[in-house]
Amino acid sequence: MTAQRIYDTVADDFKRVNDLIIKRLSSDVPLVEKIAHYIIESGGKRLRPLLVLLSSQAAGYSRDEHLKLAAVIEFLHTATLLHDDVVDTSDMRRGRSTANAKWGNAPSVLVGDFLYARAFEMMVELQSLPIMTILSHATAVIAQGEVMQLTNVKNPDLTEDQYMQVIHNKTAMLFEAASHTGAILANADEGREQALKNYGKHLGLAFQLVDDVLDYRGDAETMGKNVGDDLAEGKTTLPLIHAMAHSSEEDRQLIRKAIRKGGLDDLPQILKIVETSGALEYTMEKAREEAAKALATLKTLAASPHKEALELLTQVAVARVS
Ligand code: IPE
Ligand code: IPE
Ligand code: MG
Ligand code: MG
Repeated sequence: MTAQRIYDTVADDFKRVNDLIIKRLSSDVPLVEKIAHYIIESGGKRLRPLLVLLSSQAAGYSRDEHLKLAAVIEFLHTATLLHDDVVDTSDMRRGRSTANAKWGNAPSVLVGDFLYARAFEMMVELQSLPIMTILSHATAVIAQGEVMQLTNVKNPDLTEDQYMQVIHNKTAMLFEAASHTGAILANADEGREQALKNYGKHLGLAFQLVDDVLDYRGDAETMGKNVGDDLAEGKTTLPLIHAMAHSSEEDRQLIRKAIRKGGLDDLPQILKIVETSGALEYTMEKAREEAAKALATLKTLAASPHKEALELLTQVAVARVS
């Protein structure tokens, strides 16, 4: 399987990153450790640490700091998930109950804060001002992306441009920061630094576009989260934006009403409209465009197994949908 080949390229490092992640979760406060272990050990694809490992080594890095950088990025990601599931009132993540469903909102928010803080402690240990600059900025952008999205909950008038801005901020930014800091760690020249930065951005956009398709077309078991969550929250994603612009007036009004209302009452009808209007195919096409842009950035890198894995990753990102 292609995905397995990608992980195999950095199998040893990957294991060391996981060990480091577990080691650095330690806390004297039992509930902090319990919740942090719960979410971290429930798995996840570890895509962002993978990006750090691959991009740093594709740019010629051969020392050990990339392991810590990868762990930092996964901590930042996990913190956003803990907060995101509270905000989205989600009850399933990585195939299990979310932390908020199990322990409540307050512990989830506070342990999310702990993970941010631990990430920043470890980031400082890397003693690189450029890396701290990128990651602290990315963290601020992600938070603003989530707030931007919150402000638009139940708003059926969100435009495609606004949607792209939200997904760039909330998701692509961390992918971008992962591959960018990987390049910085490797002391890549300006051209390769920019190439790897853009690689992460486009891969992240493709990834979130696919995620938004899966919310209508996926199945809960493989995704580890519920289908229809976006509609339930009144979240206007590209499948709905496109469906509203390309369906009958009656269907358009039905979608608008469902977004304003939130909830899952209209999900079966909306699934049908979204499918028949071509909105999912349109969103997938955009995802494939972003994946192609990601692939194109790699041209300047010298051939290596890590570069090849980055190439494969652009295929895997859009192959999650059948
Ligand atoms: C979930 O990201 C949040 C989104 C950006 C859609 P992932 O799908 O990478 O989550 P895990 O870490 O694999 O669970
Ligand atoms: C993912 O947001 C982005 C962040 C967690 C910052 P979503 O709300 O779209 O992702 P899922 O569906 O919960 O994974
Ligand atoms: Mg969510
Ligand atoms: Mg969300």
